[in-house]
Amino acid sequence: MTNGDWTRRDFLAAASAGSLAAATSGTIPAYGNLTKKAGKLALLGGEPVRKNKSWPDWPYWDDKVIESVTKTTKSRIWCRIQSSTGTVPTFEKEFAKLIGAKFCVATGSGTQSLHTCVEALGIGPGDEVITSPYTDPGTIASILSARALPVLADLDPASFQLDPDEVEKRITENTKAIMPVHMMGQPCDIDRIMAIAKKHNLKVIEDAAQAHLAEHRGRKLGTIGDVGCFSFQSSKVLACGEGGGIIGNDEALMDRCYTVHNHGTSRRGATETIGPKYRMNEFQAAVLLGQLPTVLERHARRNENAAYLTARLKDIPYLVPQKLYEGTNAGSYYLYAMSYHKEHLNGVDRATFLKALSAEGVSLSPYIAMGLHKEPWIDNILKSRVYKRMYSEERLRKYREESQCPKCDQVCQEMAMIWASGPLLAPKEDMAEVADAIEKVYENRDQLKAV
Ligand SMILES: Cc1ncc(COP(=O)(O)O)c(C=O)c1O
Repeated sequence: MTNGDWTRRDFLAAASAGSLAAATSGTIPAYGNLTKKAGKLALLGGEPVRKNKSWPDWPYWDDKVIESVTKTTKSRIWCRIQSSTGTVPTFEKEFAKLIGAKFCVATGSGTQSLHTCVEALGIGPGDEVITSPYTDPGTIASILSARALPVLADLDPASFQLDPDEVEKRITENTKAIMPVHMMGQPCDIDRIMAIAKKHNLKVIEDAAQAHLAEHRGRKLGTIGDVGCFSFQSSKVLACGEGGGIIGNDEALMDRCYTVHNHGTSRRGATETIGPKYRMNEFQAAVLLGQLPTVLERHARRNENAAYLTARLKDIPYLVPQKLYEGTNAGSYYLYAMSYHKEHLNGVDRATFLKALSAEGVSLSPYIAMGLHKEPWIDNILKSRVYKRMYSEERLRKYREESQCPKCDQVCQEMAMIWASGPLLAPKEDMAEVADAIEKVYENRDQLKAV
């Protein structure tokens, strides 16, 4: 272990000793057959490694989900305020229990959850929230919707997560909170981010939109900061089409979240603040509630398959799995992410490598094309009348100048990942084919010179 970071080997060692033990049983089965991999690349007319290209379907449903939706339909309680024991309040209770938090407020999306928290913490015009440029636009939309400034800090290029040193550099007297994003469903460097927040008296809103059930030092993500936010959008490991949830242990803050998301009206019925109407509806909750009895099985399976893939990739220098920080017990594996290092594949560019691997029957995706610091929103929004009225020209000019994140640019260029919610539920043999294809491309990399 170096610099407090985990190597892949360390992760596997801990995985077999810690909470992943049940999933991995501490052993990595010996799939794969090196002799099969020598030969012509499929891109050049050879036989592909993986002929069956299908993966487990996503999003997930089973009879329990159907029963749950039917029950809600027949109950005629279709809106959360009709009953304090309806489907949404029941889901909130069950989800909080599953994650290990005292309270949950369910919303219509991850973005709505994040925005609700920003408002509930009293963050608004003139304030700054530090977050990652390598994330879904919903992360910064939640800050912009409160008319605050999202300040983007650069990444650790090996983990694809916020670099705490870069976060600390960007703290000013206007900073009110840090919004760390647990990218790919793995814990960011949360120990250091929490220490920085404590030192500077800042709030922490965990963006755990991708990180359901992921765990750091025995605590589920979302329970470490002041509040944690999840997305239940279709692609996520717990999904209902569109949906979101806030969890937390501070009753007063969670009550404020309820009030904000309920058009500013408290549980007692008094309109106390400005707020949007972000309530989850009963059918979204019914779809989620129907999945809860089996969600841990799928979580364990993804972790088991990820541990296997990581073990198989340990001697392949050109494709390096996401660096995990010390204390990581489990990931959600919403995505299984790797960085592509072309210098170990004869300098072949990423697009050609992805084509070669796809021809072998394994598709990886580059994911986010451009960090948020490079997206046109900066100009479009900062030039808007609203922002010009709230922020001085000098402040917006400085903000633009400082929005440089070269490590994020590098991550965008190097990323190669698997959309893992469904695929990582596949049998081990499918994982073996993924690793075989990656090895085959490596062993036959000289053939790519001709492409
Ligand atoms: C890291 C992250 N933050 C926020 C969001 C926004 O969530 P939603 O799409 O549910 O609004 C997402 C969604 O993909 C996400 O991945």
